[in-house]
Amino acid sequence: MSRYFYITTPIYYVNDKPHIGHAYTSIACDALARFKRLDGYDVHFLTGTDEHGQKVEKSAITAGVTPQEFVDMVSESFRELTEELNLSNDGFIRTTEPRHIMAAQAMWDALIAQGDIYLGSYAGWYSVRDEAFYAEDELVNGFAPTGAPVEWVEEPSYFFRLSAWQERLLAFYEANPDFIQPEGRRNEVISFVKGGLHDLSVSRTTFGWGVPVPNAPEHVMYVWLDALTNYLTELGYPDMHNPTFTNFWRSGETIHVVGKDILRFHTVYWPAFLMSAGVPVVDRVFAHGWWTNEGQKISKSIGNVIKPVQLVETYGLDATRYFLLREVPFGNDGNFSSMAMVQRINSELANTLGNLAQRTLAMVQKHVGGCVPSNTARIEAVDAPIEAAIYDLINKVRPAMEGLKFHYALELMMELGRLLNEYIDAQAPWNLRKTDVPRMEAVLYVLMEGLRCLGICLQPFVPRAASLWLEQLGVAEDARLCIHASAQYRLHSGATVPEPQPIFPRFEV
Ligand code: MSP
Repeated sequence: MSRYFYITTPIYYVNDKPHIGHAYTSIACDALARFKRLDGYDVHFLTGTDEHGQKVEKSAITAGVTPQEFVDMVSESFRELTEELNLSNDGFIRTTEPRHIMAAQAMWDALIAQGDIYLGSYAGWYSVRDEAFYAEDELVNGFAPTGAPVEWVEEPSYFFRLSAWQERLLAFYEANPDFIQPEGRRNEVISFVKGGLHDLSVSRTTFGWGVPVPNAPEHVMYVWLDALTNYLTELGYPDMHNPTFTNFWRSGETIHVVGKDILRFHTVYWPAFLMSAGVPVVDRVFAHGWWTNEGQKISKSIGNVIKPVQLVETYGLDATRYFLLREVPFGNDGNFSSMAMVQRINSELANTLGNLAQRTLAMVQKHVGGCVPSNTARIEAVDAPIEAAIYDLINKVRPAMEGLKFHYALELMMELGRLLNEYIDAQAPWNLRKTDVPRMEAVLYVLMEGLRCLGICLQPFVPRAASLWLEQLGVAEDARLCIHASAQYRLHSGATVPEPQPIFPRFEV
């Protein structure tokens, strides 16, 4: 029986070039997608671009091109980002694709059929930057609570009866305690919903760049209703009986990973739309925090936007991926600083991991003739706790990954790395070489097993480096899954291992 796992990033607005925020969500999803694949799941990992709405239309006008030309161009830079970041996404969706326009219209029809959409007129505040409506009492000194400017909008509009979903939403959160994570965010959402829900304006008539409302083409769908539906489009919606939909949405585990700023759309509007349309609600929505740059809020006007490509060029891709997921608990806000980045690279990747591999593999090369040492000779009592820690790593990493505790999963790997460094220092195989060769081999064997299990667990985070790492241990490509991180799949003594090369170089400032 296959187990299915569906994971999505938000689809990114194409009004802007990729920045660290986009890279962050994408890398986190990629690490989890890769882990689940290693853990035996059939995974579908989706990312893409959100191309409609007033914000995008305005950006196109400013750029002096048609909206279609504009979105084609910027969407391409997000597609390139998936390669630059070595993402393992299975799909890339664009909301201007015909398959999506059809799905969004089908979603609309489903809401209409339930009697949850009615025609009225909207008079109130709208923020183009947030693509969100705000009530008078939500404004702070004339601005949106996010700090974005708002404008007064008065136009005919269709409404979604969100107010009618308040109690059912609360009952849903109650029955599904894991729906919103982390816990603190869940409480925030619940108190927002308890505060009362207004019906939601779901169409606009004062601009044209959107999905036409079925049977009322002078309206375009509100960009969030359009955008959220992308998660279903990818699986073949409105056909809810095709195998992809059935496997991934109905019987699989589903998770949307989003930034904290777009939690309300995903945990209030989206489950209400889904319930109304008769589609099962996604299992989990996980909200991560925001990055600042050297202590400052990141903004275009300050000019301190961090471009993912620059990080990759400066520090290398794997180091960048490692840093972003290691530096702060996923869910908390984080601060980017080049000092912290260099510190992580040098102390953890280079010193703890790199040195350990280098010391072990150089000895194997020189003193065991480039072969996996013998594991039968001279295993001693001191080795038992080390071996226990090695084979227990995956059992600790798995729940950490399930909870999206990426920094903790990496800390567990570092802990083992430090333990193995202490072990190599205490056993001093370089001395044993002269006094007790069988014992030297036994120690090197234990170390190689440690490196092997570490390498397996490192793959989701630093895929290229981990692949090289496992190659140097002579681990076959089909022996790199989570189940292989156990004693049962230990290295075969006598197997040849390639000449080692440094994998995690120090970063020299
Ligand atoms: N298009 C919507 C999402 C629709 S999903 C159906 C959108 N796009 S976005 O491009 O503006 O933002 C994408 C993601 O980037 C959000 O999850 C947001 O939280 C994240 N980030 C933007 N700036 C960020 C930081 N400075 N730090 C971390 N993430 C941030 O919203």
